[in-house]
Amino acid sequence: MPAISASAPGKIILFGEHAVVYGRPAIAVPIPQVRAKTIVSAEPRLAGGAVRIQAPAAGVDAFLAELPPDNPLGKAVSLVLEELGLLRSPACTLRVTSTIPVAAGLGSGAAVTVSILRAFSTFLGHPLPDNRVCELSYEVEKLYHGTPSGIDNTVITYASPVFYVKGQNVEMFRARRPFTILIADTGVSSPTKIAVGDVRRLWQQDAARYEALFDAIAEITLQARQALEKGHIHLLGPLMDRNHELLQALSVSSPELDHLVQTACRAGALGAKLSGGGRGGNCIALAAPEAAAHLVEALKAAGAAGVIVAEVK
Ligand code: PMV
Repeated sequence: MPAISASAPGKIILFGEHAVVYGRPAIAVPIPQVRAKTIVSAEPRLAGGAVRIQAPAAGVDAFLAELPPDNPLGKAVSLVLEELGLLRSPACTLRVTSTIPVAAGLGSGAAVTVSILRAFSTFLGHPLPDNRVCELSYEVEKLYHGTPSGIDNTVITYASPVFYVKGQNVEMFRARRPFTILIADTGVSSPTKIAVGDVRRLWQQDAARYEALFDAIAEITLQARQALEKGHIHLLGPLMDRNHELLQALSVSSPELDHLVQTACRAGALGAKLSGGGRGGNCIALAAPEAAAHLVEALKAAGAAGVIVAEVK
């Protein structure tokens, strides 16, 4: 049996992170330059039912039966077996690799999960439809952080820009004009779970204040969607700046993120903000295409651990 492979892109949230956990809209886009990939190969020499999972970057090389139930890789494999009503699989090895930085707001966990769900279900002869890939990957997302909005698994499953509201049908859309964003890594790894938990505590202490901040973010996200659909890219920059200020007010920025955001703006970006859970990870900057190379240099000189240039279509 030939090996089966599937890959899934990274993602970035353009507008609305954190507020999206509280029912407000957010906009996210796939970042195909970075990807997670799973290759499934039959292992005729292993005993039937043996599923070996190798993910060198996560330090995993184990049989499914040896992994704890809350291991996200094992959980994805088990969910496929459950979904297909199978008690065991033909003996096989899943090799999972990824070029997506971990805990950096680029959707590494969701992309790994989506690639496993697709590759393993195809290997078993029943490729899962997108809606099930999305729903099952949401189950795995809960292992990474307790109350995910579902935006990561959605944008990564559909590999399309999405306007996302928790609990509603996903709306895919296209920007009327392509635009360039730079994704600059602070090099500080920051689990989303902690930032999301801190915001929840703050919200519990002063719901009125935080609801007002979420509403202000929602308004920006709605304006950004209109600007994207009308091709008014120049309007996005100020909206990003304002969204960043609101994320600062939510306490999820950090000195490193603020430094990169300020550097981008001073070096000529049209706008910049943190992206994802915050406290570390990446910020994004909107760039005129001809300014991208100069901005990359400025961000690296300011300490960015890496900069990805992405054209969003
Ligand atoms: O850190 P990321 O990119 O996985 O994004 C988290 C986005 C949040 O809105 C903070 C959480 C969520 O579940 O949507």
